[in-house]
Amino acid sequence: MDQAQIKRPLASRRAGVLSGKAAVPGDKSVSHRALILGALAVGETRISGLLEAEDVVNTAEAMRHLGATVTREGEGAWRVWGVGVGGFTEPETVLDFGNSGTGSRLVMGAMATTPITAVFTGDESLRKRPMRRVIEPLALFGAEASAREGGLLPLTLRGADAATAIDHEVTVASAQVKSALLLAALNATGRSRIAQTALTRDHTEKMLKAFGADITVEPHGNGEVVTLMGEAELRATDVAVPRDPSSAAFPLAAALIVQGSDITIPDVLLNPRRTGLLETLTEMGARIDVENLRQSGGENVGDLRVKASSLKGVEVPAARAPSMIDEYPILAVVAAFAEGRTVMRGLEELRVKESDRLSAVAEGLKAIGIAVEELPDGLIVEGRGADGVTGGGRITTHMDHRIAMSFLVAGMAARQSVSVDDTRMIATSFPDFEILMRNLGARFTVPNS
Ligand code: S3P
Repeated sequence: MDQAQIKRPLASRRAGVLSGKAAVPGDKSVSHRALILGALAVGETRISGLLEAEDVVNTAEAMRHLGATVTREGEGAWRVWGVGVGGFTEPETVLDFGNSGTGSRLVMGAMATTPITAVFTGDESLRKRPMRRVIEPLALFGAEASAREGGLLPLTLRGADAATAIDHEVTVASAQVKSALLLAALNATGRSRIAQTALTRDHTEKMLKAFGADITVEPHGNGEVVTLMGEAELRATDVAVPRDPSSAAFPLAAALIVQGSDITIPDVLLNPRRTGLLETLTEMGARIDVENLRQSGGENVGDLRVKASSLKGVEVPAARAPSMIDEYPILAVVAAFAEGRTVMRGLEELRVKESDRLSAVAEGLKAIGIAVEELPDGLIVEGRGADGVTGGGRITTHMDHRIAMSFLVAGMAARQSVSVDDTRMIATSFPDFEILMRNLGARFTVPNS
């Protein structure tokens, strides 16, 4: 994003009853992976329901620069003609991933075992995020990275020639790191073994299987071990992308806290590694019914019927963090409208997301009149009940889409309006957020700044 552009603030006022259907966009994690595996496969992959947001479009562009043919056929309908594992060609230009940690890290993995050189960069937020967690284990395959001090972007990655399989344990609870290593293992000789001490999202493993890879997954302590046979030949396959549970979290939260609301969110991805928020909200007393639960492309999918609810604070088990890692900002907002205290721990990873989300959320909650304690690895939020949140603050979003959306939701139920300093980043994951929320009944206005 061009920093010279003007910020776009927005204010959110208390809404009347929310009703209707909220068709949120396609899942971001699945969308990135469909483009990358499509580019590494032989043949044509047709994708439907792709998330057409900045983060994913940047990954599509990177696949083009690496030699794949990627076309848009219609809304959410994309085609990828892959170059085959090991077939990437050296890009003639810098690969710019904008705001996306997932795009940048997964593509580093995907090219790390092909002997080409590429330069990776991103926006001001991405250039602050840690890349050593990926480039260090990729070095085990023989890839060579030269990054800015501190392991930051921009960096140059030289892919390994004739890489051999690795046996490695990933200690950070990151699906991005695990996925980068699996993608790199595709072009290494022999069977790689990647263990992880936590259960992180498994979309890469599932999709690799669908593309014909020889992959196994076994329990390993509190986590899992994945093995993958290298020199793989991936077969192009069609991918239907379900709707994103992390985007669904915003209309869902709004319906819970705006009195009298009753909405439906159709076709949501309900992979058990992504449903931690639903579990937590249910424990808080949320009225959420999963309807029409079905299987689509190897994933659980269902419609969520959500009604306004009286909520109580809870203690969220730290072990649940990976299954709701992107949902803590909106959970913290919901916790402000619950009765009593909500405790969230095990969240050190939130410090290295699009912003330091623990501090951004704590700062934002204070600005709307909520007592909150920021811990090194968590938050303690003192809820004020359904009608008790003052609002009135101006929130600094720190280039973070989820901070912007979370506090616009807070404004929908607070006594006074809540404004956010910038909404441009929302386009990285949920370009139609404003329209979708207005259609449900949100009242957003451009503040006089
Ligand atoms: C993602 C994994 C998570 C999540 C991110 C998407 C993915 O990051 O926060 O939004 O698609 O693999 P980490 O794996 O680094 O925790």
